[in-house]
Amino acid sequence: MTDLLTPVLTANWADDRAWTLDAYTARGGYRGLEKALTMDPDAIIEEVKDAGLRGRGGAGFPTGMKWGFIPQDNPNPKYLVVNADESEPGTCKDIPLMMANPHVLVEGVIIASRAIRAHTAFIYVRGEVLHVIRRLRAAVREAYAAGHLGRDIHGTGYDLDLIVHAGAGAYICGEETALLDSLEGRRGQPRLRPPFPAVAGLYASPTVVNNVESVASVPGIIAGGADWFASMGTEKSKGHGIFSLSGHVAKPGQYEAPLGITLRQLIELGGGMRPGSELKFWTPGGSSTPLLTAEHLDVPLDFEGVGAAGSMLGTRALQIFDQTTSVVRCVLRWTEFYKHESCGKCTPCREGTWWLVQTLRRIDEGQGRPGDIELLLDLCDNILGRSFCALGDGATSPITSAIQYFREEFEAGMTTPSRDLFPPAASTLFAKEGAR
Ligand SMILES: Cc1cc2nc3c(=O)[nH]c(=O)nc-3n(C[C@H](O)[C@H](O)[C@H](O)COP(=O)(O)O)c2cc1C
Ligand code: SF4
Repeated sequence: MTDLLTPVLTANWADDRAWTLDAYTARGGYRGLEKALTMDPDAIIEEVKDAGLRGRGGAGFPTGMKWGFIPQDNPNPKYLVVNADESEPGTCKDIPLMMANPHVLVEGVIIASRAIRAHTAFIYVRGEVLHVIRRLRAAVREAYAAGHLGRDIHGTGYDLDLIVHAGAGAYICGEETALLDSLEGRRGQPRLRPPFPAVAGLYASPTVVNNVESVASVPGIIAGGADWFASMGTEKSKGHGIFSLSGHVAKPGQYEAPLGITLRQLIELGGGMRPGSELKFWTPGGSSTPLLTAEHLDVPLDFEGVGAAGSMLGTRALQIFDQTTSVVRCVLRWTEFYKHESCGKCTPCREGTWWLVQTLRRIDEGQGRPGDIELLLDLCDNILGRSFCALGDGATSPITSAIQYFREEFEAGMTTPSRDLFPPAASTLFAKEGAR
């Protein structure tokens, strides 16, 4: 079973002081950079295109193609910005990756910056994760000292500065244009597109915004070759990816596997469901991706397979819930998050998420009113596709999919509170008693 795993980015996580330059180099780190420095920048872009790497931040846009959009005849500086704002409920791959293996990201940044001819790069990290920020900054200092960053990198004449910037903890700042506004010192709110960041991004200059895992996958592609990377995964979703298994499984954690693996296989790798648990519902890619159920255990976890099942691969944040979980309460918690994180720029999301929370709270309390399910669906219909950015769309996904699969639980909320239908598990009560 374990031969299903393809540890690349996670291979060194258990090494002694894996985050140091010495440990990373001992494992062959910075070999990709060495090779990239001998390559023409366009050849690097071609290699990444040939590998078939698709953005690991959720939408799956081809990374090499994104780099190719940077207009080299534009006289402005070019920028690379790494999106390390990871804040989606359930998503926890970039933060452990940067914590355990920061140099693979730093190496990826240098290669990607050279490919797009950038001389300044930024890593925009979620502000709350101070330990990660410190570790990244330490890795950047080590890389400067080793001559991987700074002026005339390894005598090639190429210059690059890398700045680790801490955000202030807003989910919306993970949306790439809100991130750019925030990086420029403004309030983080999404920008109108076009122009797209490739044309007018940071400081109105050509900018690539890429997810941490996308950029961290690049050193392997350059060192191992496009064919090696493309030998993993499925026809249209190539390579390895970190799957974050959380919730009611025996061994939650990060499992790096080829795209296209199934949840059934991942749960087996995770030691099965926790004792006494049966799978009730799960998210394939964080709380903004429509829920799936036990009937979807064999769906290939690639962009196409999950799309065909009516959801999205998203960030591969597999949150597993068993029969003791109230779907109404779970969806309410997520919706409270979206209401709180709505940036307020557009009416459907700002007002709609507030109304969604009010309606879900009634149902959760067993005080739902006749027509509340239709009201929820109508609110979602008025948010989806009418919001300024994907936060609004994402807020509707758990609700509409939960009603699709578990309508009877919402109907029960007309008379019975969720806490009576799904009393806290004995183990949870015991843990609370113990804590007192
Ligand atoms: C509300 C919201 C939050 C997002 N948060 C993140 C995030 O934390 N990290 C990330 O890489 N992408 C996030 N994205 C997606 C980015 O806008 C963008 O698509 C991504 O950084 C592109 O990188 P990739 O092409 O390498 O996947 C978010 C999108 C939205 C709408
Ligand atoms: S959808 Fe929500 S988060 Fe996005 S711009 Fe509108 S109010 Fe802001």
